[in-house]
Amino acid sequence: DGVVKVALLGFGTVGSSVAKVLAGSKFPGIALTHVYNRDVARKRDSAAAKFVPSTAKWTENIDDVLKSDVDVVIELMGGLTPAEGWLRKALSAGKHVVTANKQLIAYRGTSLQRLAAKHGVQLVYGAAVAGGVPVIPGILQGLGGDRVTRLSGIVNGTCNYILSRMETGAEYATVLQDAQQLGYAEANPSADVDGFDARAKLCILSRIALHAELNPDEVATQTISTVEAIDFVYAKELSCTIRQVSRAQVDGTRVHARVAPMLIPLSSPMAWSHGTQNMVVTSGNYGGDVVFSGHGAGGEPTAVAVVSDLLAVSQGAKAVELPVRKRQVTGEFLAPHYLR
Ligand code: NDP
Ligand code: HSE
Repeated sequence: DGVVKVALLGFGTVGSSVAKVLAGSKFPGIALTHVYNRDVARKRDSAAAKFVPSTAKWTENIDDVLKSDVDVVIELMGGLTPAEGWLRKALSAGKHVVTANKQLIAYRGTSLQRLAAKHGVQLVYGAAVAGGVPVIPGILQGLGGDRVTRLSGIVNGTCNYILSRMETGAEYATVLQDAQQLGYAEANPSADVDGFDARAKLCILSRIALHAELNPDEVATQTISTVEAIDFVYAKELSCTIRQVSRAQVDGTRVHARVAPMLIPLSSPMAWSHGTQNMVVTSGNYGGDVVFSGHGAGGEPTAVAVVSDLLAVSQGAKAVELPVRKRQVTGEFLAPHYLR
């Protein structure tokens, strides 16, 4: 019937925001037909349920999705299990998969990609690194022609939110709680503050930009939970601040990779990133440095990345129209677009 049928697995921070973005944009040719979550009644009764079409099926039985005629499965539960097994079944059943699950893609991405190719479907994960910042599509579609040898940046919004608020005097424990309430942190925030989230993202970026497959468990990772208020005072004396930085650099047949709180000169754009702002800098032999920046965490920015992936997949799968409307052009002067 020309309609791309979509199922959401996980109706939490990002899942409910995806429903909201889809409801707001009304993409012709895309229909949200299933919402899967454990204990689903809670979700069906939540405020965000109003963004789900009344025709969609709410279910806590995964087979309702896997055995349906859904075209695209969007996985927003997180974790390796049961997500991996279910996505393998979805790909094997000829369904495209969109996911924001960085742990799954870091540990199993190559094998899942092979499975997708075997079944002639797509596996896309643009939201898995830097939330709403199109780093992954940017690297895949815009930097494939370069030979990228180094990447570095801020890829965990929670840590950046915590450290940039501590810089102005806030308490670690208070801001961590705020980050959890605002939906930035992982279900277990140790993944954020102890660096496991960032190292998974670094491994994904290393795979696509440096063409290096790294084992996340082997990446040196240092927690930010030991950073104290006094550290910012010392940092300032050195004209620096502190951010969680992730870096990977090719060195012959090896790759140096590390995630740690690091001193950043106040003159560096990385020191100016506050709140959930992420920043990734790639360095290529031919094109030089490229900077990606924007909101790396939060339901709505991340949902934009997920829905953009969904559109890309759907346009490949079926002829989905973008909701383009004819507008009259006015001659009014528009102010330049300054960054806030
Ligand atoms: P949430 O915890 O808010 O949402 C996850 C949802 O999935 C919850 O509704 C949860 O149900 C459900 N769920 C989790 N595990 C299972 C399971 N085993 N069976 C059934 N349902 C399950 O997480 P987020 O929305 O924040 O994150 C989702 C994914 O997106 C993760 O992979 C995360 O890393 C990634 N991501 C998140 C970003 C963010 O800013 N939040 C940004 C970029 C990526 P319940 O309510 O019962 O726990
Ligand atoms: N918990 C993650 C972060 C979500 O804070 O960056 C985005 O991947």
